[in-house]
Amino acid sequence: MAGEAQVKNSMALEFLSLPENVGLARVAVATFAAQVDMTLNELEEIKVAVSEAVSNAIIHGYNGEPQGIVRVAVERTEAGLVITVEDKGCGIPDVALAMQPAYSTDPERMGLGFAFMQAFMDELEVTSELNRGTRVRMFKAFKGEIGK
Ligand SMILES: Nc1ncnc2c1ncn2[C@@H]1O[C@H](COP(=O)(O)OP(=O)(O)OP(=O)(O)O)[C@@H](O)[C@H]1O
Ligand SMILES: [Mg+2]
Repeated sequence: MAGEAQVKNSMALEFLSLPENVGLARVAVATFAAQVDMTLNELEEIKVAVSEAVSNAIIHGYNGEPQGIVRVAVERTEAGLVITVEDKGCGIPDVALAMQPAYSTDPERMGLGFAFMQAFMDELEVTSELNRGTRVRMFKAFKGEIGK
């Protein structure tokens, strides 16, 4: 993934798989991202992508059980931000299928979380193992000279 360069700053956050922590993760990552001169639009895109990934960990990874641990980590390099969202939940049987727009295992849902992550971030990498968990890595490139 791009942004594999020297790490200039990093942070990590772990929390229980409770829905109220989605907002915590979103604000924490956005605050970290705002240390560099991101546009408001880019910050909004990052917030949506983080919310979708963390919601997935809570809703799907831990199936709504509140005892799971979700880990969110962010690294800033010269190239941009690498955001990782990890759970140790049920895992995804077929990642390529799960990432297709409008695919959901829950008929009540739109199946658009991965589509938003894909659209708003410059790179998206999902690795998952059944009964082990899921890791979503997202890269947001800095445009122009910012972030150096
Ligand atoms: N962390 C995860 N652990 C287990 N399964 C997951 C995880 N993230 C996604 N999935 C699976 O991938 C599917 C697609 O995820 P996506 O976020 O695109 O849609 P959704 O969550 O079903 O709907 P929406 O995000 O629109 O509410 C989910 O329905 C779920 O089956
Ligand atoms: Mg989702």
